[in-house]
Amino acid sequence: MSTDAIVLLKDDHKEIRKLFRDFANAGENAKKTKERLVEKILEALTVHTYIENEVMYPEVRKLLPDVEDDVLESYEEHHVADVLCMELAAMSSKDERFEAKTTVLIESVTHHMDEEEQDWFPKVRAGLGRKQLQELGAKMLEAKKKAPRKPSQPSALKKTVDAVLA
Ligand SMILES: [Fe+2]
Ligand SMILES: [Fe+2]
Repeated sequence: MSTDAIVLLKDDHKEIRKLFRDFANAGENAKKTKERLVEKILEALTVHTYIENEVMYPEVRKLLPDVEDDVLESYEEHHVADVLCMELAAMSSKDERFEAKTTVLIESVTHHMDEEEQDWFPKVRAGLGRKQLQELGAKMLEAKKKAPRKPSQPSALKKTVDAVLA
């Protein structure tokens, strides 16, 4: 089975984009559906952010110093998303700001994933060998097993705190 790091991350992105589309198409009054979708979005983003923060970004930063600036920008974009996720996790669909906050989360994460896919992944693929990408992917699959699934879990909170205080 291929464990190519970029293939794995793109698969995650595809799943996240599908949830975003479902939310956008859910219809004005589908409050319960939207609440369930936001729960799924928060889970998918928490796991995905964790494996990028813990494995992909630090490893690529070490192996390819040229992409340092991209990695730093990505950490900042993750941080903005983390804050929105934390706030959404504490809200229900009855909240006046629920819909607006989800829309801003979707817009900002979509921008971030577009940049990763169009700009960053090609640089990483050009800079790293097949074998290195397979090894990175295998490490991410391992990390996924212990990844937090909710923004409020200690290991997810820790990355938010690190991002603010580091
Ligand atoms: Fe990312
Ligand atoms: Fe990503």
